[in-house]
Amino acid sequence: MAPLLNVLLFLATTAAALPALSSGNQSRPFTQTSVSPWNEGAVTQFSIHPSCNATQRRQIELGLAEAVTLAAHARDHILRWRNESEIYRKYFGNRPTLEAIGAFEVVVNGDKDDILFRCDNPDGNCALKGYAGHWRGENGTDETVICDLSYETRRSLSTMCGLGYTVSGSETNTFWASDLLHRLYHLPTIGQYWVDHFADGYEEVINLAAENATLSTHDSETLQYFALEVYSHDVSVPGVGCPGEQHSHRHDDEVTADTRGSEATATATTIEAPSTTSDVPANCHTHEGGELHCT
Ligand SMILES: *[C@@H]1O[C@H](CO)[C@@H](O)[C@H](O)[C@H]1NC(C)=O
Ligand SMILES: *[C@@H]1O[C@H](CO)[C@@H](O)[C@H](O)[C@H]1NC(C)=O
Ligand SMILES: *[C@@H]1O[C@H](CO)[C@@H](O)[C@H](O)[C@H]1NC(C)=O
Ligand SMILES: *[C@@H]1O[C@H](CO)[C@@H](O)[C@H](O)[C@H]1NC(C)=O
Ligand SMILES: *[C@@H]1O[C@H](CO)[C@@H](O)[C@H](O)[C@H]1NC(C)=O
Ligand SMILES: [Zn+2]
Repeated sequence: MAPLLNVLLFLATTAAALPALSSGNQSRPFTQTSVSPWNEGAVTQFSIHPSCNATQRRQIELGLAEAVTLAAHARDHILRWRNESEIYRKYFGNRPTLEAIGAFEVVVNGDKDDILFRCDNPDGNCALKGYAGHWRGENGTDETVICDLSYETRRSLSTMCGLGYTVSGSETNTFWASDLLHRLYHLPTIGQYWVDHFADGYEEVINLAAENATLSTHDSETLQYFALEVYSHDVSVPGVGCPGEQHSHRHDDEVTADTRGSEATATATTIEAPSTTSDVPANCHTHEGGELHCT
């Protein structure tokens, strides 16, 4: 009897200690009972702090809705075309599609518990030149501050391919959607310390796909550029997009002439060149990204 009691006592002690551990970690324990629905307490909307006034709240809400639209389309493009999409291969090289699909899906349908956007500049960083917002880091790991510069500069996705925007020639933070996608990937509940910065800027992103593709499917910039390019190609200007000037991958001393040749070819076909394949109807052709166009 005594050993059994000890075991029971041990179990009871452990169980009692668990909630304390979990609350220390700020995440709710996973529980399921027969009387509550399995997803009880699900949070499907992003939270906006009362420090945001009506116009700020409205712009952040619309921006987040566009970030979800951008991520959902990126996911759907991959689900439809897999690596047959030239745009997919340009940004993710030869990588399987599962990780990129997941990185977009977590933004669309991941639980939004704990995520908070605020406007009260609690860390004072909005005073820094060029700051349009920031992740609070150790001061609030799931919190994002949006600064006034965002309201003045960020654009709606509806303006994509207008006003001189091109994917390769413009900043990813041109749009609320991609700027907020970047900010969301910094949050542990979304980016999970797995999405990170491995490449900076368009050139490095293209090089990453060619040289270190395993990093590309969890690189924050790669995910943003890919989402922007497929949105421009499939939605903004269907079948054309606005990819901008395509640079061939240049690392003259590292890349053999042979490799460079094949990359240049791949890049050239990326610019426009609808390709025809034998298994599409005679009046149809496929564009880059595999989109089928019939006349
Ligand atoms: C909280 O939980 C997450 C996910 O399980 C874990 O990565 C993290 O290290 C934990 N944090 C603390 C402070 O225990
Ligand atoms: C919200 O705050 C911003 C920044 O202070 C200000 O420009 C804007 O007019 C405010 N909006 C309303 C509705 O008060
Ligand atoms: C595309 O994916 C298939 C597996 O689904 C794989 O066999 C093929 O090598 C991939 N192509 C490229 C160019 O990565
Ligand atoms: C966190 O707060 C401290 C103290 O206010 C500040 O110095 C630091 O810059 C803040 N961190 C971030 C990422 O804003
Ligand atoms: C490629 O990735 C590895 C880790 O997987 C890293 O050590 C290396 O520095 C990366 N190289 C480049 C050029 O990014
Ligand atoms: Zn970042």
